[in-house]
Amino acid sequence: MAKILSILVAMMLVLSGCDKPAGPSTGNDKASEAPATTKVADKPIVIDPSLATAGKTLYAQNCIFCHQADAIGKPGFAPSLTNHEFLSVSSNKFLLSTIRDGRAGTGMPPFSHLGKQDIESIVAYLRSYATLPDRSAEVDAQPAAQGDITRGQASFELICLTCHGPGGNGYAAGGTGTAIGKAGTLDKVTDGFLRVTIQEGRTNTRMLGFGKEGPRVMAALSDQEIDDIIVYLRTVPSK
Ligand code: HEC
Ligand code: HEC
Repeated sequence: MAKILSILVAMMLVLSGCDKPAGPSTGNDKASEAPATTKVADKPIVIDPSLATAGKTLYAQNCIFCHQADAIGKPGFAPSLTNHEFLSVSSNKFLLSTIRDGRAGTGMPPFSHLGKQDIESIVAYLRSYATLPDRSAEVDAQPAAQGDITRGQASFELICLTCHGPGGNGYAAGGTGTAIGKAGTLDKVTDGFLRVTIQEGRTNTRMLGFGKEGPRVMAALSDQEIDDIIVYLRTVPSK
């Protein structure tokens, strides 16, 4: 009974967390006093780690073909889902909703037919690979990016386009980077998620870090240059 109750509570949390994230930042919105955030998750969704055993089977049945054994991904085909930095910045809400809805216009199909508990089980399985603390609450609470769209576009085209495709279109152009300019990605991630991923990169993938510090930095972009890219990306889906 207690188990059923906790599942119900988790389901209610998933349902109540379905509000859309804040709209695209324009970069010159100085109206509000408090720093705006693109906070997506208000209450963290708790997932029972013991669901991981069931999740492993479900992963093998539904995901392994694309995301590979141990969800390590395959460059240019499907991203790693067990990458340390990826899991560390990803909230359960982001993972659950991405699996449920897929990413329109990419190779990632929706899995809503599996139902909430099976999707939670898969997330529990992915989380069992986590080696870094879950930073998603702090990352999602970061302020919204403020910056210059034109400068952001120039940096994007110079540095990111070769892997992420024109307008962040993703694998379609033959690169290895995911579709970071598609609404299916942007509607589900906060500016903090984008910022920290761009700063720190993802170990053992072709996504290097572009921040000023960190072990894997390939080209140092300033915090402002990174925010410029984020405000540019936020304009892409409406273009
Ligand atoms: C037919 C291939 C395919 C299958 C099957 C598939 N995926 Fe994906 N998945 C992709 C691709 C391709 C992307 C990257 C989309 C893009 O370019 O942004 C992706 C992206 C994702 C992401 C976002 C990762 C990130 O870096 O932000 C998650 C989470 C995910 N998939 C989970 C799953 C799970 C869980 C399953 C099984 C229930 C699954 N996928 C099945 C192809 C697939
Ligand atoms: C050398 C290729 C390469 C370059 C250059 C590159 N990326 Fe990536 N990026 C990747 C790959 C590959 C991934 C996904 C990791 C994986 O496959 O597991 C990724 C993932 C990301 C993600 C997470 C997307 C998601 O689906 O969760 C963001 C955000 C991102 N990159 C932003 C950028 C930005 C901004 C730039 C330019 C400053 C950039 N990247 C440059 C290869 C690259």
